[in-house]
Amino acid sequence: MSDLAAFVRGLPKAELHLHLEGTLEPELKFKLAQRNGIELPEKTVDEVKQTYQFHDLTSFLQVYYPAMRVLLEPADFHDLAFDYLTKAHAQGVRHVEMFFDPQAHTGRGVPFATVIDGYRSAIVRARREFGISAELILCFLRDYSAEYAMATLLEALPYRDWIVGVGLDSDERGNPPSKFAAVFARARREGFLLTMHCDIDQQDSIEHIRQALEDIAVDRLDHGTNIVEDDRLVELAKGRGIGLTCCPVSNSFVTTLMKSDEIVALLDRGLTVTINSDDPAYFGAYAADNYVALAEHAGLDLDQLVALAKNSFRASWITPGRLDAFLREIDDYVAANR
Ligand code: HPA
Ligand code: ZN
Repeated sequence: MSDLAAFVRGLPKAELHLHLEGTLEPELKFKLAQRNGIELPEKTVDEVKQTYQFHDLTSFLQVYYPAMRVLLEPADFHDLAFDYLTKAHAQGVRHVEMFFDPQAHTGRGVPFATVIDGYRSAIVRARREFGISAELILCFLRDYSAEYAMATLLEALPYRDWIVGVGLDSDERGNPPSKFAAVFARARREGFLLTMHCDIDQQDSIEHIRQALEDIAVDRLDHGTNIVEDDRLVELAKGRGIGLTCCPVSNSFVTTLMKSDEIVALLDRGLTVTINSDDPAYFGAYAADNYVALAEHAGLDLDQLVALAKNSFRASWITPGRLDAFLREIDDYVAANR
């Protein structure tokens, strides 16, 4: 491991843009298929990886959703989340706010309770076994109707203590934030924090970011990197302390570039930019790997890496007391390891 990679691994970090269903590694996919008596068309890890041919968000999602059919029982969701939390812990992640896509499961007959019971048991176990803290963010699939999203929100209400916020993911094309205005307003009234994807280089990216910030009044923006094209929105996000959850390696799969110039420009302009892995099993890079990839690509210095790690806690939804403690831990780590 390089000095840079070792430094980044040890640096306390939060991860704020992580899809649990995007952590399904081929090995676990085979194990769950076998456990559930499901025949897979691919027979080896290499064959699975050969299907990972993405050139945009849509082509990624066409691989991402079908893989989920091996997830059926609470134990499957537990294993998925626990494996991820184990890897995140090994990468120096101390706190994580994880997306899950209930409709990708309820839509194929798996009950909401099965999904959330499995995820929750992994969170409790990981906290006990290695001290990592984790929260769940329920994402609505934006290519389904607003009515289905509302029904999913209502289905989640009995579990509200296990869910910190709601988000919006899946195919953005033709599915603007405004489509879900009533769902997000209800979620806010129910006490959830709000975030949503504004993916990279979408049709109407800037208008979607504007809607998310001004009309929905989100607490955070997922990706959102195209905001760099609009000075007014940059100032608005900065004034409100809105965190941006950037995902450099993911960007290099669904567009042509990591968007490292844009990410660094936003950091330099004082936005609360954070670095995350998105769907690490598909993009081959977990949290620390994303810091290293960006650092190598953009030539980040140590101070910039430390600023990104601090931002990850500032943009998170932890209490002020825990935030202060993590920021002090980072300072101590830097003093001891610089
Ligand atoms: N964008 C939209 N939908 C997704 C993503 C993403 O980055 N990852 C998993 N589902
Ligand atoms: Zn995402």
